[in-house]
Amino acid sequence: MTQTQERRGQKDTTAAAPHVIVLFGATGDLARRKLLPGLFHLAISPFAPDIRVVGTSLEDLDNEQFRAVADKACHEFSTRKLDDDDWQSFHQNLVYVPQGKGPKALATAVQEKLKELGPDARLLHYLSVPPKAAVEVIQMLDDAGLVENSRVIMEKPFGTDLASAEALNAKIHETFAEEQIFRIDHFLGKEAALNILAFRFANGLFEPIWNRNFIDHIQIDVPEKLTLEGRAKFYESTGAFKDMVVTHLFQILGFVAMEPPTELGPAAISDEKNKVFRSMRPLDPRKVVRGQYKGYRDEPGVDPESETETFVALECFIDNWRWAGVPFYLRTGKSLAEGQRIISIAFHEPPKSMFPPGSGVGQQGPDHLTFDLADQSKVSLSFYGKRPGPGMKLDKLSLQFAMKETDHVGDVLEAYERLILDAMRGDHTLYTTAEGIERLWEVSQPLLEDPPPVRGYNVGTWGPNAIHQLIAPRAWRLPFERVWRGKS
Ligand code: BG6
Repeated sequence: MTQTQERRGQKDTTAAAPHVIVLFGATGDLARRKLLPGLFHLAISPFAPDIRVVGTSLEDLDNEQFRAVADKACHEFSTRKLDDDDWQSFHQNLVYVPQGKGPKALATAVQEKLKELGPDARLLHYLSVPPKAAVEVIQMLDDAGLVENSRVIMEKPFGTDLASAEALNAKIHETFAEEQIFRIDHFLGKEAALNILAFRFANGLFEPIWNRNFIDHIQIDVPEKLTLEGRAKFYESTGAFKDMVVTHLFQILGFVAMEPPTELGPAAISDEKNKVFRSMRPLDPRKVVRGQYKGYRDEPGVDPESETETFVALECFIDNWRWAGVPFYLRTGKSLAEGQRIISIAFHEPPKSMFPPGSGVGQQGPDHLTFDLADQSKVSLSFYGKRPGPGMKLDKLSLQFAMKETDHVGDVLEAYERLILDAMRGDHTLYTTAEGIERLWEVSQPLLEDPPPVRGYNVGTWGPNAIHQLIAPRAWRLPFERVWRGKS
């Protein structure tokens, strides 16, 4: 018995219906890194055991060449050990139709696969294509008669500003009904991001202090060591703000800042996130630092005079009763000193101190609650405690949780896997909405219209020097002064 058969033996009653997944951009970077390995993992899991993949892209490949691309991708990027039998069984369920062959050829391949899966089979299109190409692909699906009874996942960024996002929404609605559309933001599928909801709303301990009376400021910090990874064309027209902030960082901010939803369902969660976005103050370009790493302009495919930012840090505010006056600092960029994804909540310091000068009180910053959004999430609460011995010296201590210490670490679904599975089940809870996305473009408009000049920074640093002025008198949490426990 292969591992697949064994796993399928553990029949999961919530398994998704059999699905044909039409993957646009099937040979692109995202497909190779995440989507093909993710689909493979779902196919051998008990959650979605009957999957056929019809890959398509602008490249002129045949089935075997596409399978070779998928093979290489899964071996290179899968986070799990691959079993050869499992791989062989998935392999034969992959076919490829070059986009250039047109809608008819695509329809034929899809119908064939649907037939193989029987009358309950459903259709899911994954558009892993840049915003500009999305409309063309939607048209192709319409021409191929592949819209009815299907669902469509749209990749970010959704549009490039408010007008283009509105136009894209209007255009898609000519073909797909809203309930068929799944606008993905993979940060919302990260186990650690979902743990923010659990942490906030499954406990009575933290919610009472989750507001301006107790919190001084919040940082959402996602520095990356990665550079362009061969994505110059995409990145040149996107830049750090559109690639990461208006998408992932703002969505995470939504989870951190929202009011308790009435239920764990799509309407309730979206309502609360959208209320946060509606309360956001439009960005102030004077409170934004844009950077570009030195050497970016020499990268293959980059304009030698490029003004695209590879780094952005900004301050923003949510003007509601809970958060008035609490700054949120967001930062992300490429070629930085470390790859991290943290949310750091800094609490107010005590108003008075009985501890004498030299005791160490307050010397290592305020108390912090820190979420690490890495695939294996961690949470830490830091506080001052007494150093053992005579006198009263204080040290910064912490309570820490690491998912790897639980028995469930092997159950983690990678963000894309989780979200694709949700789309197969028709669950919109962790997907973004047209209203939310349009509002985020609206608050971004002042920055898009009047971006500050890009400042150079050295590879391997934390960005241009101006980041310190942006946050002063506070300080960036990263690099951490104390490492996470258990880190070797
Ligand atoms: C993608 C961006 O959406 O997210 C990339 O396009 C970025 O530029 C990536 O590197 C980061 O995602 P993760 O899950 O690796 O933190």
